[in-house]
Amino acid sequence: MIIAVTNAKGGVGKTTTAVNLVAGFANRNKKTLLVDLDPQGHSTRCYFRSEPERDVSDFIMDRPSQAYRAVFPTDYPEVDIVPATPRLSETAELLSARIRREERLDRALSALPEDYRMILIDCPPSLGILTYNAINAADLLLVPVQPGVGAVVGLEALIETARELRDEDNIPFRILVTMLDLRTTHTNAIFEELMEDHRRKVLKTVIHKSEALNQANLAGKPIYRFAKSSRGAEDYDALCEELLKLRLPSHI
Ligand SMILES: Nc1ncnc2c1ncn2[C@@H]1O[C@H](COP(=O)(O)OP(=O)(O)O)[C@@H](O)[C@H]1O
Ligand SMILES: [Mg+2]
Repeated sequence: MIIAVTNAKGGVGKTTTAVNLVAGFANRNKKTLLVDLDPQGHSTRCYFRSEPERDVSDFIMDRPSQAYRAVFPTDYPEVDIVPATPRLSETAELLSARIRREERLDRALSALPEDYRMILIDCPPSLGILTYNAINAADLLLVPVQPGVGAVVGLEALIETARELRDEDNIPFRILVTMLDLRTTHTNAIFEELMEDHRRKVLKTVIHKSEALNQANLAGKPIYRFAKSSRGAEDYDALCEELLKLRLPSHI
């Protein structure tokens, strides 16, 4: 299953979700690939510390048959990565002059010799050409939203864009509530109202606000290597289980 973690808003928990789902699936012995599509490379930092010889720019710009050369192992036996570097921001511009510019990631992933059980794409915080590539490649769009006013702003634009790109009416997407703080019930009420239109698409699992998750990010580690028995680890474990049980596309 290819999951694109996407939301044009920054700071909603995309990278945290991608990084920890990758670790969670690996813990379940699922061979997993992380594709970092954000020029900031925050999720790369968690799994790949050295300067990569090739990166995600090569992965999408080269011919699909050569894409595998930008895939690297990590110190998790079950995790491979296509790392991002700041070069990726130029790539986004160069892409606009290339043929099949919105399908390049999809084609590269399809050409990989390794058969990954899970592929996680960490998207940049914008609805541009890189995100279009992720939308075209994905079996599921996972949209993290943080409760509060304006939580679902941009969701309609994302779905509409996906319909156009994929020429499908029913876009396979799920909303993930992140950084939920149960003490701020007022924002929760606003949030629920906003979510009414998409109630059936909201995942049961919610990710609570957790200082352990924040600290794990700062340390550049998945939560399972930082605070194994924290609330954050439990939440992402529950999310892994829920996603593994999703039956796509029949139960969209
Ligand atoms: N559940 C959480 N609890 C507390 N802090 C979080 C949580 N999820 C993410 N954060 C913090 O919020 C910030 C933004 O998260 P990040 O995953 O980088 O979002 P995005 O990739 O959408 O920009 C980071 O500093 C991160 O450590
Ligand atoms: Mg991010």
